[in-house]
This record gives sequence, structure tokens and C-alpha cells, in this order.
Amino acid sequence: MRIQDKKPLSLARTRGATCPFVSPHENPRSQRAPIGTLGPMAGKITAPRGTRDLLPEEGAAWTRIEGIARALSDRYAFDRVDIPLFERVELFARGLGESSDAVEKEMFRVSGAAGSEEARAEWALRPEPTAGIVRAYIEHGLHVRPGPLRLWMLGPMFRYDRPQAGRYRQFTQWDVEVLGDPGPMVDAELIELAHRFFAEAGVTGAVAYLNSIGDATCRPGYRQALIDYFGQHADRLSDDSRRRLEINPLRVLDDRQLDPELAAGAPRSVDHLCDACRDHFASVLALLDGLGLRYEVDPTIVRGLDYYTRTTFEFFVADRRGQQQALAGGGRYDGLAEVLGGRPTPGIGFGLGIDRSVLAAQEQGVEAAPSGALVAVVSADPAALEPRLRVATQLRAAGLRVRPDGSDRKLGRQLESAAKVGARWAVIIGEELERGRVVLRDLASGEQQEAPLDRVPAVIGATWGSLPLQDLAQ
Ligand code: HAM
Repeated sequence: MRIQDKKPLSLARTRGATCPFVSPHENPRSQRAPIGTLGPMAGKITAPRGTRDLLPEEGAAWTRIEGIARALSDRYAFDRVDIPLFERVELFARGLGESSDAVEKEMFRVSGAAGSEEARAEWALRPEPTAGIVRAYIEHGLHVRPGPLRLWMLGPMFRYDRPQAGRYRQFTQWDVEVLGDPGPMVDAELIELAHRFFAEAGVTGAVAYLNSIGDATCRPGYRQALIDYFGQHADRLSDDSRRRLEINPLRVLDDRQLDPELAAGAPRSVDHLCDACRDHFASVLALLDGLGLRYEVDPTIVRGLDYYTRTTFEFFVADRRGQQQALAGGGRYDGLAEVLGGRPTPGIGFGLGIDRSVLAAQEQGVEAAPSGALVAVVSADPAALEPRLRVATQLRAAGLRVRPDGSDRKLGRQLESAAKVGARWAVIIGEELERGRVVLRDLASGEQQEAPLDRVPAVIGATWGSLPLQDLAQ
């Protein structure tokens, strides 16, 4: 499978003199072995722009944040789903809208193996999961299940946007969706869920900015009001906005180049709501007030995807609003199932940016530590590999985090390197193992004590080193 982005890389960029994919015939200076065999390589290959490698030092922070998302999904009674990383372009074009940035500018297109019939299929890496989840809901007839359905997933999304801090071409979302519930209680419930996530993640100051953008009854009137207003100021609009004005004037409002003064004077959807939408929105706000949650009504939250109706929202850290760095975004999409060929089904959900949440927590000084103290298993006897592995296995079975040293280095060197990789304790194996005993060493203080092996997990697990080592001896 080949993956193409909107702007295919030029040959000049892919065929540099140091590019490892140039055949030796094309580059006589290269001494490399042919592709597919191991051999010296000329030049480094780097990750694609806008993508990132998760390095070991970031792993604990990601595991912590993802763990909160998984645990909350469970606590709030959502069921896990997953969908393909790529779908038909038509799904996104119909669901998100032809004129959305995600479809018009940011789609990573995918084609099948050259020459195959499937190669002509039009696929794209998923820019977001909601359309795919609703597609799966329709495809598998999930409407017959006892509802409303509460679904969650976590995974990578792809958008060919201009990369910058917090904006990537591959990023991870925690996504939750509720299908078959017209609200308004579920709207408030989901906003509370996102708040709970930020509270547990240690991201303080997260605020929900809320709006209602109406439904099929009142949207046409609002649409016309926008066309009239922006039509009078067409000379101040970007080329994109002028083109999109007739197709979907809401897109003009989320144009990053829109003149702020013009935006401030634009008609507001909340002033054009029909009675049913106004009542729905009022109920959502009353429910949020009842929960004492932090929110602000913000008429500029129109969202960048076409499927939204009624409640829309985004989360920002209050003083970071200007940076266009939403931590989460979502809303109702009561018409999406029909647009995708299903029966009318109300829906609501949000996508929460895991990358940005990890960054926000780090910026606010939240530390993420691995789940428990690390224990090294070492021995002065270079031949004692079997006992090291056996003891490590036994300690792990008892729930400890264990890293055995399989080297033949001197004991002192093994202890040094254990401390360097962050071990808090070392279990030193010697002759006493024959009597079921080991030496437990506190790598911070250097104190050590011989002890029965089966007491080690209890002491390390329970005390993290607060119990005097001498107490181990009995
Ligand atoms: P979205 O607002 O496009 O909504 O994305 C949701 C969140 O994903 C954003 O608030 C942000 O935290 C993160 N995000 C988006 N783009 C990037 C990027 N380029 N780099 C890093 N993080 C990013 C949706 O995707 C909708 N599907 C949400 C939804 C679910 N609505 C209803 N249900």
C-alpha cells in the first residue's frame, strides 16, 4: 500500500546523493548493499515531517494520560470499538463535508498496490473517527441493540496540516460517542466527562467553550444571515472563504485568516435558534450549572466539520485560548447517520487530543512515574544466569517491576548500571539462594540486608523503602 499526501514529494527531494533508496547504479559513489540485504547504509532516514517518535522518556507520561482515558471510558460505561485507519474518501467527503479543511486540504490519500483493481479505490487515512464509527454503526445494524450506544476508542488520526507545536500530521485522539440519545442530559454528561479527564490528568484551568449552531429547522436562516453579512464584505475575505461562502458559510467563521474585526461583527448562531434548539441549549447550560462546571458560552465555536448540529464545544486552558490549541472538541451530529445512508439517529461525542493533553500536563509540571519501584537482579557469579532469571520471574509473578542483568560484568558495575537505569533496589543472588535467601540492597543509601526471597515483594511493594532493611532479616 502506498500513502500519498496532498503534495507528493518531488523526486529531487527523494533522490538526493545520500538517499538510501537510490540504487547503487544510479549513485556510483555509494558502497551500499542492494535494498533488502543488510549492509552499510549511506545517510540517515528521518521521520516524516509532522510526525513524532515516542521516546522512552515520554512513555510514562503517555501511559498515564491514556490510562486515565481508558479508566474513565470504563467508569462512564462506554464500550470499546475500533475502526480501520483508512476509509473511503467518500465517507469523509459526505460526513465531514467537501468544503471542510479536513477533506479539502488535509487528506492523506491512500492507494492500493500498483496495477490492482483496488489501486483505483479512493481511500484516505482517517482524519477523525466519528464518521467511521457512524459508518460502522450503520453497517453492523447496531441500532437494534439496546441503546443509547456509548462507544469509545483511542488511536491515531492523520491530517496534512502545517506542523507546529501541538499540531501534528499524525496525532492521537481519545474519542467518545453516544448514539441514539437526543439529550440534553447527555450533552452535559459528556462535557463533565472531559472536565473529569482534565482534572485527573492534572491539567488545571481547562474551560469548556460552548455554543449551539442550530438544526435543520433554524440553520437555513442562520446560513442566509451569514451569506448576507460576509457577501457585503467579500473583499475582506480570503480566496478560500469567498469560494466557500455559498457552499457552507459556516466554514468562513473558522477560516484562520478571517479578519478578527469582521468575525466579531458576524451574525451569531445563538441569535437564530428555533424554539426547540434554544430550549435544548438552555437545558444543557442549566445542567452544567447544576454540576458547578466551568464553561463559557462562545458564539465563535462553530467547529470545522459539517456534521454538527445544536451543541458544539471545545476545551482550552483558559489563558491559552489565543493559540488555537484546543485540547478537545465535540458536539451533536443529529443528522450524520442519515447523510451516511442510515436511519435518523441523534449522536453526540468529543475527540480529545492526547498529544496536547500530555504537553499541557507536562507544562503544568505534572510528573509521571512508572507504576512501581524498579528492582534489579544481579549476581557476582557470571555463570548464575538461570538463578537470576528464575528470581526475576518469581518477583514479577509477585507484581514487582524487575530488570535482570544478564551480563558477566563485576558486581559493582552491575549495581552502578542498575542505579543509572533508575533501579531503586537490587536483589543480589549468591550462595544463600540455596537456603531461599538473597541480599536486598537499597541503591540510594547503599544499605543492604540478607533476607528470605519470598519476603522481598511484600517489603518493596508495600513500603517503597520506608521499612528499615533490618526488619527483613527474620
Ligand atoms: P477536532 O476538533 O477536529 O474534532 O479534533 C479533536 C481534538 O483532536 C482537538 O481538540 C485537538 O486536541 C486534537 N487535534 C486535532 N487536530 C490535531 C493535530 N493536527 N495535532 C494534534 N492534535 C490535534 C474531531 O476530530 C471530532 N471527530 C470530534 C467529535 C467526536 N465530534 C463529535 N464526536
